Amino acid sequence: MPPVATPLLSPDLFDLPPEVLWLSHCKDGLLPRASAEALRALLGTELRPWELQWNEDFLDVQRALREVGATLLGVDARDISLVTCTSSGLEAVALGYPWQHGDEVLIPVGEFPSNRLPWLALASKGVSCTEVALWDGHAAQPAAVPDASIEPEQRLLAAITPSTRVIAVSWVRYQDGIRLDLEKLGRGCRERGVHLVVDGIQGAGTMATSFDGVSAFATGGHKGLLGLQGQGLLWTDHAFRQQLIPLGTWLSAPDHFSQGGTQTVSDALWADDGRRLEAGSPSILSCAALASSIRLLVESGGAAALQSHITGLQRALLAALAKHPAWAAEARRLDALVQAGRVGSTLSFALPAERCAELLRNAEARGISTSTREGYLRIALHGWHAAGDIDRCVAWLLS
Ligand SMILES: Cc1ncc(COP(=O)(O)O)c(C=O)c1O
Repeated sequence: MPPVATPLLSPDLFDLPPEVLWLSHCKDGLLPRASAEALRALLGTELRPWELQWNEDFLDVQRALREVGATLLGVDARDISLVTCTSSGLEAVALGYPWQHGDEVLIPVGEFPSNRLPWLALASKGVSCTEVALWDGHAAQPAAVPDASIEPEQRLLAAITPSTRVIAVSWVRYQDGIRLDLEKLGRGCRERGVHLVVDGIQGAGTMATSFDGVSAFATGGHKGLLGLQGQGLLWTDHAFRQQLIPLGTWLSAPDHFSQGGTQTVSDALWADDGRRLEAGSPSILSCAALASSIRLLVESGGAAALQSHITGLQRALLAALAKHPAWAAEARRLDALVQAGRVGSTLSFALPAERCAELLRNAEARGISTSTREGYLRIALHGWHAAGDIDRCVAWLLS
């Protein structure tokens, strides 16, 4: 497979010195310069509140973020709620769902705490949370390393019991990088009358999916979406959203709050759209930055184009590594996973701990930023990477 010669997002869009190779958006995305500018422009209204225009500088900023977020995700903007992060989006569902004593939630083994603790916290309501191994040996210590033969969606669907109400999964897993097929899982959940709730942060901005069969999808904005910490998006299916306790207050009325202090008298206390799950004033600076970042992703061709660019880079990196005996087996395992559509934007290399530590030290000396989680060395690729970065990465890994 030929390496992808040119980046989809120009590196000039970022404050990225040539000596830095940022392979860590699975930890923290790069904020584009344009988003820093959008933020600076709005900062003026904090310094000089007498200049603030209620519609342009407040309501329209939020509306623009819902709209551009919806465009990138391929959904209706009316189903988007602005939330602070992945956790708060998942908590809106976990705390708002009409649970009955004895209900059950299924989550995979090894979820990030954002998609684990909110479900475990439901024990006080008599709701149990069962952790399901997604492949043979997954629940062992240390967990078995996944290969392309795994069928995690099947494992989850097979674990459904008559008490199961929700399956909550990471779209892309933070440590081993495995991407679940949300379409397959969503179909299976719908057939069984179970809600599928998704922690989308490791896939949003770099991968594409349909939301058919999904009930809720939460993502923070500070990784692949390239925004700031403290601003995320929650998408909910319309009918599912009506079952949740609304979190919304003054900005969530059926009509926008009027600064005159009156709200339209209406039978409905909360808006029907995603605003019903929004809790009061958002961080408007973070909203503006995230909207600007997502706009760049949309303008670069959107999620499908970014996914295809990243997949091309991953295959080029793995093809180069496969030629070297020390890397061949791991490169073949990961390439089979990439070809099976089983990974997100992060290639997670399973390596002995000492080797990981040594590579991290070498990376730092070469201006390469990467990370490790649970025995995996994570190399996260995005739209600003191109063939030259892959060459640099190969030289580092072979050092
Ligand atoms: C899978 C996953 N979920 C959630 C988060 C972060 O959650 P939040 O947006 O609530 O900070 C991370 C961060 O590393 C993650 O990897």
